This record gives sequence, C-alpha cells and structure tokens, in this order.
Amino acid sequence: MKLCMIGAGHVGLVSAACFADLGNEVICVDSDEGKISILKKGTVPFFEPGLEELVRKNAESGRLSFTANLEEGVKKSEIVFIAVGTPSRENGEADLSFVEDVSCKIAEAMEDYKIIVEKSTVPVKTGEWVKKIITNNIHGVEFDVVSNPEFLREGSAIQDFMHPDRIVIGVETERAKKVMTELYKPLNVPLVITDIKSAEIIKHASNSFLALKISYINAIANICEKVGADVKEVSNGMELDGRIGKGFLRAGLGYGGSCFPKDVAAFTRIAEEAGYNFELLKVTEGINRKQKELFLKKVKKALWTLNNKVIGILGLSFKPNTDDMREAPSVEIINRLQAEGAKVRAYDPAATENARKVLKDIEYCADPYRVAEGSDCLLIITEWEEFKKLDLGKIKSLLKNPIIVDGRNVYEPEELKKMGFNYFAVGR
Ligand SMILES: NC(=O)c1ccc[n+]([C@@H]2O[C@H](COP(=O)([O-])OP(=O)(O)OC[C@H]3O[C@@H](n4cnc5c(N)ncnc54)[C@H](O)[C@@H]3O)[C@@H](O)[C@H]2O)c1
Repeated sequence: MKLCMIGAGHVGLVSAACFADLGNEVICVDSDEGKISILKKGTVPFFEPGLEELVRKNAESGRLSFTANLEEGVKKSEIVFIAVGTPSRENGEADLSFVEDVSCKIAEAMEDYKIIVEKSTVPVKTGEWVKKIITNNIHGVEFDVVSNPEFLREGSAIQDFMHPDRIVIGVETERAKKVMTELYKPLNVPLVITDIKSAEIIKHASNSFLALKISYINAIANICEKVGADVKEVSNGMELDGRIGKGFLRAGLGYGGSCFPKDVAAFTRIAEEAGYNFELLKVTEGINRKQKELFLKKVKKALWTLNNKVIGILGLSFKPNTDDMREAPSVEIINRLQAEGAKVRAYDPAATENARKVLKDIEYCADPYRVAEGSDCLLIITEWEEFKKLDLGKIKSLLKNPIIVDGRNVYEPEELKKMGFNYFAVGR
C-alpha cells in the first residue's frame, strides 16, 4: 500500500520504517527540515536500537523516502498517518495544535479518497474534530478518519511495532475497516476493531493504568520500607497472579518520559471536562512526584549536608535503551542536588548529548568508574544493563565514601552490605 507518515519522531519514524519493511511504500514527512536532511543521509536523529539499520535498508530498497513537503506525501498516498507530538499544556490538557495544523494541510492537499489515521495519542473526540476540519477545508472529496493508537515503547520500539499484543483500530465505515485490516494482516496479531471514541480512550486508559501500576508498587515499596519487608519479593508474589499480570510492578523513582506524565495529566483533564473527577489518577500522579522527594531524602540521610559534596550519577535518560530526556527523573533530582550546593558528575551510555541541552554544570564522565572516582556517593537513576555488571569492588575502592543510593533496585542489598557498602534501595 502507499502510505504517508506525518511526523518522523519516535513513533512516526519507527512506524514508517516498519511499514516499509512489511512491503509498503512509505513517504515520511516532517516539518523539521534538519531532521529530514539527517534521514536522507541514512542516519537517524535519535537513538533507538536497530532503527538506523532498518531505515537504511528500506530507504535503499526505495520503499521508504523522506520529505518536508506534506502535500507531496499526501498526494501520493492512500493512507495518511498523523504521528506528530501532542505535548502537555500548562493545565495538563493535550496541546492539539500540531494535529490541527496537519489536518488542515492534509485537507488542502487531498484530491481523491484518503484514509486519515490518528496515530498520535489524542483525547477522545479528536477524531470528530479532525473530520470537521477536513470537511470544512475540502469539497466533494471522500475520506475516512480512523483512530489507530500506537503502543510501542522507546528502547524496544521495532520489536513492539512488529509483535504487538493487539492493534486497536477505531473506524466508522466498512471501507476504512477493510483497508486497515489488510494493512495490518502481515503482523498476524489480534485486531480490536471499535468505534473511534473507544479506540481513543483505549490508549489513554491503557497508559494511565500502567502509570497507576507503577505508582501502586511504589506505594507498596514505601510501606515495605517502614515495616522491613522486601518489595521485590512482594512484586514477585503478586505478578504470579494471572489476574494482576506481569510487568510494571518494579518499585523505583517513578515513571517519566514523553508519554506517561502527559497522558495521565491529559486523561485527568478529559475526565474533568466530561464531568468526572478522576481522583485515582490524581493520586497516581502525586505518588509519582513524591518518589523523587523520598529518594532525595535518602541521599541526605546518607550524606547529611549536600553543599560541596561530589555526587556521582549513573543514568540520565528516562529509562534504559533510549537517549530520550523528556520528563527524565534525573533532571529534577540533579537540579535539586545542585540547588543545595552539590557538585554533580554523571555518565549515561546514550543520553549525554541530550542531557547537555537540559542540564547545566555537570561533569560528564567517560564511564561509571570515572564517575565513582573521588565521589562522596553514587546514585543509580536509570537501570541500564551495563550498571548491573559493574565491578563493585573497584567502584568501592574509587568512591570517597562507600555509599550507593539506588533508585532502581539494581543490586542486592545483602550482597552490597557484605561488601561494606552503605546501600539504600527502594522498598527493600
Ligand atoms: N514516544 C513514544 O514512546 C510514544 C509511544 C506511543 C505513542 N506516542 C504518541 O505519539 C505521538 C508522537 O510522539 P513522538 O514521541 O513520536 O514525538 P516526537 O516529538 O518524537 O515526534 C514528533 C514529530 O512530529 C513533527 N511535527 C510536528 N509538527 C509537524 C507538522 N506540522 N508537520 C510535520 N511534522 C510535524 C516534529 O518535528 C517531530 O519530528 C504523541 O502523541 C505521543 O504521545 C509516543
């Protein structure tokens, strides 16, 4: 099929490359000409495992191309995906100005029947708005609007796109349903075909539920700390219950990234506007915010005062296997440490370049051992795989004080205690 993907970001670029790899002809459009020129050179503008290879392979085969010209992309395609950002406004609601802008431009470019697909995460009833805007801007050209939210995770985006648990398709007509079903047929996974509003809600409800699971286990971790239980044992015991399910029950610093914080905020606002006070999500957000406070308290408990202390940080990205710094817990933690006079040195396997744009006065180190050298303590902020394999004996000998405050429960408390560390974990 001939597809146009508008937005070459974490969702758009991955989706475009994967659809091309499945045999479709995909034109990927972005208004950021710098991004398009990077992509045309065969490189990708952010770190995602396997993405550069997949983009290059499909660009070389001619199935994947890039342009900043939206009109060209729309004219040549049967299905047009909207995968632009939907960031938070100050009051928590989703800013849909990119979606609106793109919808108007699609309408202006349309000459024959198109299926316009919302892939961005959008509030319920956005489909209605997109339809209205397109209707107001064209005359006599048929089209369908479809909601097809994306569930991929940064860090495992290609795997998630190619092997999803389900694909959600919100449609109004048989014509659009037939085409969308055909498009996803090669993936051979369950399709959830529904009305547009339900599809829109499925995405917000799913992300909010996952955020809620994270806050729930963090609340349990806080109780474990108070009574001397081990939250890792607790979550293992819970996860084996099929009704609860595996995943998202790892206690830590809470959720960050470009999706959960904004989607929880947006869904809370959507509910409010619909006349429902979604207290459960407000508490979810509150617990998440407080997790960072509790972590900082532990750092102070370990070091007493922070002024002029040298604090080593391992991990800056909001989670492992990405260089994404959006809403990364590291940002607030580092800002707070610096506000109290601490000197920060840090290492991240991928996010240093992006961290430089949002953090100031950090000494970036080439590896974790350089971070440890002469530091008053070591903080684990992101659970990159390489941190699990560190030579902790060496780390201990390099640190000024053998203190580790672990925000992600990477190590075993008993083992670290035996080695002579003063080790603080979450809920253990
Ligand atoms: N990042 C994720 O893991 C993830 C997962 C699922 C869903 N989503 C949702 O997908 C959407 C996109 O997220 P993302 O992380 O890919 O965002 P992103 O910021 O990485 O990418 C968005 C892209 O859209 C481009 N853009 C903005 N306005 C444009 C316009 N008028 N014309 C053409 N291009 C335009 C931007 O230049 C940017 O490259 C959001 O709604 C997000 O909530 C994200």
